Order: sequence, then C-alpha cells, then structure tokens
Amino acid sequence: MSASNGNGSRSTKLRSREWFDNPDNPGMTALYLERYLNYGLTREELQSGKPLIGIAQTGSDLSPCNRHHIELAKRVRAGIEAAGGVPFEFPCHPIQETGKRPTASLDRNLAYLSLVEVLYGYPLDGVVLTIGCDKTTPALLMAAATVNIPAIALSVGPMLNGWHKGERTGSGTVVWKSRERLAAGEIDYDQFMEIVASSAPSVGYCNTMGTATTMNSLAEALGMQLPGSAAIPAPYRERGQISYETGKRIVGMVHEDLKPSDIMTRQAFENAIVVNSAIGGSTNAPIHLNAIARHLGVKLDNDDWQAIGHKIPLLVNLQPAGEYLGEDYHHAGGVPAVVAELMKAGLLPNPDAMTVNGRTMGQNCANAENMDEKVIRPVSSPLKQDAGFINLKGNLFDSAIMKTSVISQEFRDRYLSNPRDPDAFEGTAQVFDGPEEYHARIDDPALGLTENTILFMRGAGPVGYPGAAEVVNMQPPAYLIKKGIHSLPCIGDGRQSGTSGSPSILNASPEAAVGGGLALLRTGDRVRVDLRKGTADILVTDDEITRRRAELQNNGGYHYPKHQTPWQEIQRSMVDQLSEGMVLKPAVKYRDVAHT
Ligand code: FES
Ligand code: MG
Repeated sequence: MSASNGNGSRSTKLRSREWFDNPDNPGMTALYLERYLNYGLTREELQSGKPLIGIAQTGSDLSPCNRHHIELAKRVRAGIEAAGGVPFEFPCHPIQETGKRPTASLDRNLAYLSLVEVLYGYPLDGVVLTIGCDKTTPALLMAAATVNIPAIALSVGPMLNGWHKGERTGSGTVVWKSRERLAAGEIDYDQFMEIVASSAPSVGYCNTMGTATTMNSLAEALGMQLPGSAAIPAPYRERGQISYETGKRIVGMVHEDLKPSDIMTRQAFENAIVVNSAIGGSTNAPIHLNAIARHLGVKLDNDDWQAIGHKIPLLVNLQPAGEYLGEDYHHAGGVPAVVAELMKAGLLPNPDAMTVNGRTMGQNCANAENMDEKVIRPVSSPLKQDAGFINLKGNLFDSAIMKTSVISQEFRDRYLSNPRDPDAFEGTAQVFDGPEEYHARIDDPALGLTENTILFMRGAGPVGYPGAAEVVNMQPPAYLIKKGIHSLPCIGDGRQSGTSGSPSILNASPEAAVGGGLALLRTGDRVRVDLRKGTADILVTDDEITRRRAELQNNGGYHYPKHQTPWQEIQRSMVDQLSEGMVLKPAVKYRDVAHT
C-alpha cells in the first residue's frame, strides 16, 4: 500500500500507521493511540497519514554545547508542521565532552543503543538528529545507520569566536597553549582561567577545528545535513532558519523514502575522508566514521584513510592547525566552499554521492563561492600538503594514526631532520600506565627525561580506560619546557582531543589492555618510528618479544582499573578496538532494523 504525499509522487506505507491506524487490530491501535491524545494532539493528526517525525534532542543543562538545540527545536517543529508532518521531540542520553567522567566517549555507544531502541520501538517515520558536541554526532548517525529510517542531521553550530586582548582564543587549543605558559610561570592560575573562559563566549560547540567542527562538517560531507548547515554559528539567525528548513525537508525525505543507507554509501565516506584532510579534521574522525560505516555494512578501515586522505592538502585555516575560528569558517563559505575548491582541482572522489536534499554533493557544491581565501585556501595555495593521516604499523600495534599536518617546525628540526634517515626518529621509551600515573610522575626529576625521550601512554584504550581517554598529547616535564623543549614525541593507545595540535601517534590498536604490543614495552626500550615506511617498532629481537609475551600471560595479562559502573563492565566485555570504530561487537550485525 502506498500513500500520496500531495506532491504527486508516491511513497511507501508509513510505519507509524502500524501503531496508530490499524483497523485489523482496533484494540491495540486504541491503546497505542489514546495516550498521545492527552496533551492535545488530535486523531486527525495521528491517523490521517501525516508523517510522524522524531526530533532526537541532545541538548540539556548537562550538555551545554548542544543546549541551544532546545531553542532550535522550535524552528524544526515549525518546519515539520509546515510540510505536513507531526513532530515528536524526545531526549537522548546526554553527552558532554568536557564534563563527563571518566570520559564522554564511554557514552557514545550508550547513546547509540538507546536511540536505536527509541527509533525502533516508537511510531516514527523519520527523525531529525540534533548533533553538535563531539560524541553526539557519531552516536546519532550510528543509530540512524542501524535503524535506517529517513534521517537528517542538524548541527547546533559552533560558538562565536573567542577573543582575549585582541587575539582569537579557540576552544581547547587555548587550554593546551596556556597550560604551557602556566607551567613555565608566565601566567598565574587566575589569568589562566580568564584566558580559557574567553574562548567560550556564547552557546554552541567548540569554535576550533576540534572533533565537534570536524564531525559536524563530515556529517555534511557525508550528505546527511543540508548544504551549508554545519558551519553556521549557533547564535546566528541563519541557524534558526536552517533548523526550519531541516524540519521541512525531513517530511519530504519520508515521502521519498530517502534513507541513511541511500546516502551514507562507500562513495560518501570517501568524500568525507577527503574533506576531513582539507579541513584539518580531528584524529577522532576515523574512529567515528569507521563506526558509522560498520553499522551500515560499508567496508572502511584506517588503510583507506591513508590511501584516500593522506595526499589531500590542508585548505581550512582554523586553529589548531591554523589561525581562524568558526565564525570565519562560516563567512568563508563553510563545507560547500571547501568541497567546491576540491572539485575545481578534481580532488572530490564522488561528486555523484546523494545527499539529504535529494541532490548530489556535486550539484550542491559546484558553484559554492569561497568568500575568504585567507580562511579557505584554494588547492593551488594550501596551508600544507599531505594533510591527511598516516596509518602506522609494527610490533607496537597493528594500527595507529598520526596527523602529520600538525608537526611543528621545532619538532621537525629536532626529530625529522637527519638527511641520512629522513622522516624517521629513534628514542628511549618512558612508559606511563594511564593518565593518573603520567600526572603523578611527569615532573619527577628521577625519570631523567631528555629531548630523546618518547612518551608512551598505555592503558588508555576502549577497554583499559573505558571509552578510551583523550590523554595521549602529553606535555613534557616543566624542566624541559623551561629549556625550550615544548613537545616530545607521544605514542599511545588512547585518543587525543581534536583541539590539540600535538603530532601524537594515537588510537593504537590493539591496546595494551587486550594484549597489544604496547603491553610488552618497557621504560628504557629503544623505539624507532619511520613515517615514510609507516612503521613503529620496539627495537628488541623477536625472541625477546616472545619471552615478554609469555611473561605477560603468566602475570594474568595487562592490569587495568576495575569497573566503576555497570555500563563500564558491559561495554568492556563487548567493545571493539579504536581502529575498528570502538563499536559494540554484537551490534554491528543489525541492519535496517525498522524494517524487520
Ligand atoms: Fe562540546 Fe567541544 S566540548 S564541542
Ligand atoms: Mg574531545
């Protein structure tokens, strides 16, 4: 059976009618229906074939980055109603990147699970995904992928630019910079707090090219947001206006039965990988995109990220890799302008990929204007070449990501300038088991750290530190900073904030906690990293590796802290590694659950 959408095109039967309009089972229909009338909805709205549209609300007092969605949802509702739909706003599990302990990423899969259950279990024909703060975006897209009802994403938008004494202060980035100045005694605690607070001047998410701006840009590059939606700052009037347009559009998507699996294809992920390099996207992006792909059954791994993304130039001049912030990104033209620059150079792999507005990525972006070439560079004068990730392998791990575009000149001169051994460095390992040990011991002079030390963080992966901590960008001890050594090479099985500019080697998989090579590493070992060959190895014999592995097993494996909550235990028992998207392993076999 099909219903007319009033525009002449036909659509499949709305799934909401199984709940609210099933004459074959009047008793059940009445029970499903009657309570939704109790706040004023009419039978006409629920039984006349209007699409019922969920608004998956991630904003709350506990999630300030997304809190403005509470306001924006009013415009989304108006858009849904204008197009003939009925809105149903409901809360998602809150995720606040900066406020949740032990780490917000523990909750990504929890929010995913709960949204799958809501979208499956209630009479919704389509859904607006209110995205923003780092983990909310992947959590909601993963759920849309699993359930596969028509879905459209809406960013809450970045905060306005932060300013302090005439300089732009960017979210997160200013923390990493200012804590060095605090450690060096240049500023005191109150000055430090004042500078950091200046970077958060309004509602919205991080105004830097951190994980939030990255993932919101990639949600658009995947085709899941209306063109231009990602970059509009949260307080701007255009943000309310695109919320209205988003509400209108989801109703059309339901009539057209345009589903996440029609949009988030392998071709769309390839586009997103290229856009990620061009914007200088976060090292968290491969984790989340690999996860979304797995929930769709699309093959995608970290070798793809290197093969498709590494050679793409950095075009977007936003902190931490560059100088500008979110408002500047929007004024320059946002994602469509970036895609247009890539298209002009023939670098967008799949202009034919479909998007939520029913047009292709190429049709949406080909004529988008770049309005500020200081902020969005043309491919002919990029900020950097080869801005994507490389995927390192060796006896330390099977996969670890490095963002080579953030390697500083100081770092390059110190570690990568040997003409006989270009792009490679060796050092002596200093191993920390978890962030607490790092904080307790880093300034202890007895460690005797030098510029030839490589800092290792282990026990920080999805199992070791449930959810994987953002802790790999370790600051050198104060005594080295005072000597002018502002960064040491850092390697670890945890993650790193997208707002950090450290050239760390991170997301190492498998992690120490599941017996990865990092568990065999000892302080004092020599380690060699070769960026050209893509290798990272402990310089010991294979026999020694075998001996250490036997010893680790005899000791009962790598020890990590006990569970603090039921969810930590449940997730640890079934979570995959960072290179595999940190998904819940039993969940990835479920596809298209709305239609089962
Ligand atoms: Fe929420 Fe950065 S902390 S977006
Ligand atoms: Mg983060």
